[in-house]
Amino acid sequence: MKTQFGILIILIISQFGFGCGSKDNSAGDSSSGGGIIKTVPVKDLGIGPISKVELGDAIDESMAAKGKELFDLKCTSCHKTDKRFVGPSLAGVTERREPEWIMNMILNPEQMVAENETAKQLMMEYTAPMANQNLTEEEARSVLEYFRTLPADQNQ
Ligand code: HEC
Repeated sequence: MKTQFGILIILIISQFGFGCGSKDNSAGDSSSGGGIIKTVPVKDLGIGPISKVELGDAIDESMAAKGKELFDLKCTSCHKTDKRFVGPSLAGVTERREPEWIMNMILNPEQMVAENETAKQLMMEYTAPMANQNLTEEEARSVLEYFRTLPADQNQ
């Protein structure tokens, strides 16, 4: 959080510091004066069928219960919710990843580990590929809802 705040401040300063003398600002958000190109922070949504997930403010308990059932059946051979196993512990996963990324990882792991930077790093760290369990989008959504009920990762 601190770093992000720091970057924000730098962005603001560079905007005002170098932007003043520029004649043509028609390029708007993609450039500022002095030839400085700003980086727009982009959320990592992953690669796959999911481009937008709406999360309710409150957890949908019945959806989460269905997700837990699926998780116990199809995911616990490799994942625990409190410690590292074949794959990462899934405690706190909804804090470290976007919901879209999580669903794309569940539905499209082959392409994710081949093309998504975060998934590639995980693959290097865990040296085993995340398995496609052929969940439907609705099932993956319910597993995501279950993940929202997990406590934060103690090790972070
Ligand atoms: C055969 C073992 C295996 C199974 C089964 C499996 N996974 Fe994974 N999973 C992994 C591995 C290994 C990783 C680490 C990334 C990689 O190496 O591809 C991973 C990564 C993940 C991640 C990313 C975690 C993070 O910290 O970002 C999520 C989310 C995930 N799995 C969810 C699931 C769900 C949900 C299921 C069941 C539907 C499941 N996995 C089944 C092995 C598995």
